Amino acid sequence: MPKYYMPTTLLSGKNCIKRHPRHIVHGRKCMIVTGRRSAKVSGALDDVTAVLKENGVDYEIYNKITNETGITEVYGLGKKMRENGTEYVIGIGGGSTLDAAKAAAVYAANDMEPMNIFEERYENKPLTVVCVPTTAGTGSDTTQYVMMTLDDPHRKRSFSSEACFPYATYLDSRYTMTLPADVTRNTAVDALCHAVESYLNVQASPFSDTVALEAIRLIGQCAPALAAGKFSEETREKLLVAASSGGMAVAHTGLNVVHAMGHQITCAKNVPHGRANGALLVEFIAWCAKADIMRAVDVITAFGSDLSSLKRFMNRAAPINIEVTQKDIDGWVENSITDTIAMNCPGTFTHDDERKIYYNALMNKDRKYNVW
Ligand SMILES: [Fe+2]
Repeated sequence: MPKYYMPTTLLSGKNCIKRHPRHIVHGRKCMIVTGRRSAKVSGALDDVTAVLKENGVDYEIYNKITNETGITEVYGLGKKMRENGTEYVIGIGGGSTLDAAKAAAVYAANDMEPMNIFEERYENKPLTVVCVPTTAGTGSDTTQYVMMTLDDPHRKRSFSSEACFPYATYLDSRYTMTLPADVTRNTAVDALCHAVESYLNVQASPFSDTVALEAIRLIGQCAPALAAGKFSEETREKLLVAASSGGMAVAHTGLNVVHAMGHQITCAKNVPHGRANGALLVEFIAWCAKADIMRAVDVITAFGSDLSSLKRFMNRAAPINIEVTQKDIDGWVENSITDTIAMNCPGTFTHDDERKIYYNALMNKDRKYNVW
């Protein structure tokens, strides 16, 4: 039975923190979790701390999160918060930072072994988390999912708990204005993959479709800017809304094979997450078209008249230039044998299908599409 549960309050628009400070103030003592740079440079940290000072909230700032921050460090942060009597957490940054804030909130409320977080059952409710994204892609600000880096930085593992939905998320596109063009493109393509993987998914419902299609439509409108690498305020705003909408969509359907397969490329070839997924997206849609042509058309028409239009867009916005051999592909397919994510595909997805998608996307780049 389709279910839609989204407890996160979304506040959006310019100066939304100053205009709606009520959700930033959720106790007397808070921990602000950030990366090393973007929270400060974007102005988000100053806006948050100004509201906290005005309201007499005692705060600490932990500004050491990177893409490679491991579970032991996040556990240590949560433990420190438990000992300090921290009452709630504000995460300001990209996906790694927001996920670290969400995980630390679990550890702060639960005296547990670090790896037990993956059991997804917690004795105590995690601390309240408020998110202020400074990138437009992750969707972590609207989901119950948390991706953790294990102590080996090449190994990631995720967990999911309804208790980990953020309490509130502030979407102010001014905080994404300083993002470099390449990061903007990679994260936008990641958001597009979230929305498409949710829409072309057996778990999709009319409710998840609504937000998924809106995300696809908005990113389609931003396609010329993404291709050119030039972003107006209006474009930034659309991308931010699209990213959170993509998050809301996958919160209800789960992801699909693109993310599982893209993860192999990221690990083996050090390709950014969004770009690795984007490299596979067109082939995934072509595969889905065999099972549900109308849904595939819904996605494609946001970018032009046919699948080749989407392919041309992806080649400009998120080009991938890596050497791949058949041996690489065989290894990636072998690695994914235990992955259950293919269960969300609209049709039976075999290892031969997977091999073909990798091959066509990475080794047969001139192929022509004749989906309809
Ligand atoms: Fe992603």
